[in-house]
Amino acid sequence: MNILVIGSGGREHALGWKLKQSKRCGKIYFAPGNAGTAVIGENVDLPADPVNTKNADAIDWFCRQNDVELIVIGPEDPLAGGLADRLQREGRYIFGPVAAAARLEADKAYAKQMMRAASIPTAESRTFTDANAALTYLQARDEPVVVKAAGLAKGKGVTVCSSKQEAIDTVNQFMVDKVFGEAGETVVIEEQLVGQELSVLALVDGQNIFVLDPSQDHKQAHEGDTGPNTGGMGAYCPTPLVDDKLMSTIQREVLVPIVDTLRRDGVVYQGVLYAGLMLTAGGPKVLEFNCRFGDPETQPLMVRLKGDLLQIMLATITGGLHKVDISWDSHCCCCVVMASGGYPGSYEKGKVITGIKDAEADPDVKVFHAGTKQQGADIATAGGRVLNVCALGADLAEAQAKANAACEKIDFEGGWYRKDIGYRVMK
Ligand code: AMP
Ligand code: GLY
Repeated sequence: MNILVIGSGGREHALGWKLKQSKRCGKIYFAPGNAGTAVIGENVDLPADPVNTKNADAIDWFCRQNDVELIVIGPEDPLAGGLADRLQREGRYIFGPVAAAARLEADKAYAKQMMRAASIPTAESRTFTDANAALTYLQARDEPVVVKAAGLAKGKGVTVCSSKQEAIDTVNQFMVDKVFGEAGETVVIEEQLVGQELSVLALVDGQNIFVLDPSQDHKQAHEGDTGPNTGGMGAYCPTPLVDDKLMSTIQREVLVPIVDTLRRDGVVYQGVLYAGLMLTAGGPKVLEFNCRFGDPETQPLMVRLKGDLLQIMLATITGGLHKVDISWDSHCCCCVVMASGGYPGSYEKGKVITGIKDAEADPDVKVFHAGTKQQGADIATAGGRVLNVCALGADLAEAQAKANAACEKIDFEGGWYRKDIGYRVMK
């Protein structure tokens, strides 16, 4: 079966790498892919975002010409824009939800409304479409708040405010200055929760839910969770933060009710449902839902996944999840993100990368590419998050040490990484 993977990050490299291991996998294409995906498949120039008739038709035509039967959509923007809806054809499989289901990520006001309807534990919140009403509400509140642009803002639309003034400034930036355009016209203001963050990803086939092993992301740029937010500086899996009992609670109180509530609304969820949770003193509470695989959480998940990802994806699409065999390598996997100098601010591209082969000489190490490109005979940087260095270990400490050692062997001008991925659960 020929496959097209939409996206260009470490998540897409990891998914493609795992799909390629399936006996049924034929040719695999990536649009647009990166220097890593070019080694396992073929990168093709097919714009998937914005989603419009021209772009969707080009993808559709490519798939017909190349006998592509499975399309895997990685990022949120094309899902929210309805790419899965537009590509539906007889005999074609599409992994990823339709726009009506992806709205759970693309519209935080809608997500809150659905969570309320389903009695899902989440932060208390109010939604505003009028800036003055939002500012009046903030004036009357003394508790710390989080201000969120309701729409998609490339992961930058959330401000955890340390003062009332910061909350006021954020509302003004989002709603009056419109720094995120339409995405910030509606704003959700919610109570600040305290606790450890947890990522729980589940496969959903419309009816059945299969919960994947829990992981923990590290969104802040610097060690000890300091500095600005990023797209994610590392993740490890599994995390000892949750036991089986707590995972069952999350399944019963969060995943099942949201999927059921959507279905009652006529929305069938198919693909990955990602719950970002805060483990508070009062139990787990939902921070956000995403409609896709997490990045970088997917990279350690794929390294540990035992089973045929192609078969698992087809079962997810066809309502057969109850029949598939999914298990996990008992080792822990730690994924460390190597970033460009200056990221998440401005950074230069085109820096030559060396040492990847050397790092992968350890059979427990796998390096996924994110922002990379082929530059003549070299591999060079092409984005802020450049490489995702994954390592397996008997425990998290060993996995982290091996991942860090692998990063030490890799070099590019300005490159840096957090050496403390997983520190919150380590002694
Ligand atoms: P979100 O995109 O909604 O997950 O928000 C991005 C990040 O902001 C989360 O990963 C948390 O670190 C933080 N955050 C979001 N909502 C809250 C909240 N209610 N309380 C504290 N931190 C939050
Ligand atoms: N790791 C956070 C995300 O994928 O949104």
